[in-house]
Amino acid sequence: MSVPHDFELNRRDLMVGGSTLAAMTAVPAAVKAQPNSTGGAALSNISLTVNGQAHALELDTRTTLLDALREHLHLTGSKKGCDHGQCGACTVLIDGRRVNSCLTLAIMNEGMEITTIEGLGAPDQLHPMQAAFIKHDGYQCGYCTPGQICSGVAVLGEIKAGIPSHVTPDLMQPVTASDEEIRERMSGNICRCGAYSNIVEAMTEVAGRQG
Ligand code: FES
Ligand code: FES
Repeated sequence: MSVPHDFELNRRDLMVGGSTLAAMTAVPAAVKAQPNSTGGAALSNISLTVNGQAHALELDTRTTLLDALREHLHLTGSKKGCDHGQCGACTVLIDGRRVNSCLTLAIMNEGMEITTIEGLGAPDQLHPMQAAFIKHDGYQCGYCTPGQICSGVAVLGEIKAGIPSHVTPDLMQPVTASDEEIRERMSGNICRCGAYSNIVEAMTEVAGRQG
């Protein structure tokens, strides 16, 4: 079967063009293997206060707080889900506020009070939110649970402080821990097991106790 003349030309042109492009973009192996001109990681001595205890660490300045907690302090309660600030599994409390620890550098949190799930309560002395999660079956696999509990504690603090949210119906009235408020404020914490309704029940009970 004969091939049309113009197709042959196009194909040849394409091959010539492609090899030229490859030659232009190819990086010699020797160049690729060059060491980083910065000389590698920049280490820094920092002190982190976690669950009331000060820890001296020497860290690459690019280390996230989540990696510092899990890999250097071996506090593995805070989970790494997405590592991109999208799931909430890594939520910890920093000076009482909920923070995705995968999105903040450890070095930025010197001097702050960092609380992880390990510092919230103990097996023989659970935090009320931990106890309520157990009572209301607020988890299945438990992977998201440390983040949910830390967020839950902060969320009830926000509501108690009268901080409104996107769904607060009347800014002139006190904020209440309605299902809608809880669901809106907890929307950054994803649960792949779908334990949401039980989490709302647990938080509602704790809010009632606090009220
Ligand atoms: Fe931090 Fe998902 S691991 S938000
Ligand atoms: Fe499994 Fe939430 S309990 S992801």
